[in-house]
Amino acid sequence: MKVEGATTHEGRAGLDMTDPRFWRAGAISTTLVMLVVLAFLSVDSMRVISVGGAHVPRYDVVNRHIGYQYDWSRREDVPVIGAPEPLFGRTLTEAQATALVREGKLVIQSRACMDCHTFFGNGAYYGPDLTKSWLDPAWPQIWMPMTGKPTREEAMVAFLMNPDQYPTWTRAMPNLHLTEREARATVAYLKWMSAVDTNGFPANFGKTQTQQ
Ligand code: HEC
Repeated sequence: MKVEGATTHEGRAGLDMTDPRFWRAGAISTTLVMLVVLAFLSVDSMRVISVGGAHVPRYDVVNRHIGYQYDWSRREDVPVIGAPEPLFGRTLTEAQATALVREGKLVIQSRACMDCHTFFGNGAYYGPDLTKSWLDPAWPQIWMPMTGKPTREEAMVAFLMNPDQYPTWTRAMPNLHLTEREARATVAYLKWMSAVDTNGFPANFGKTQTQQ
């Protein structure tokens, strides 16, 4: 019996929802659209996170002052790249800075600092998060007076070479016997890392102390 008003198999627009081909076409077109979206998002992410991109400065940022300021529109802290402030008082070319930061990364990877520390959200929390360590007010306020060094970077080198001699905390860092060259390269890596815009990560960094 034909029921008045009921749709036919073809439907109004000629679509037959009981036909598997209708669902197959739907699945294929949805997948294709999402592949285009994925490709767009991947390209956009690469633009933002590659060195020299919107969030990641080039390595020669180690020649500049790095500030850290609360951005009310984003509601998070954002690195502010400022006036020239060469690391160890020496302006590096982009190639020299790239080589030094890379050397620092290799020191950090080869000594497994991640067993105790976190970088960009990876690692452990036995020691402090190092993503913004360069900006830590403890360098000028505690470690510079403690090591007797006149600059932040020199105090960092002194600490990294002999962390057991300059403890500030209930947990101490063991002496990993870094050479001076390794310690300086590590400091360059830490300075560059602090200039990376990590969308406010780690949250509340430095809020318990006086921000520089
Ligand atoms: C066995 C665990 C351990 C390992 C491995 C370790 N650290 Fe540490 N680190 C600590 C602890 C604990 C502290 C806190 C020491 C203090 O404040 O007295 C610390 C502090 C630091 C600080 C100061 C952080 C700040 O802003 O207050 C830096 C920088 C640092 N470590 C770098 C490194 C690097 C680079 C490596 C690898 C070469 C490394 N650490 C390996 C445990 C470790």
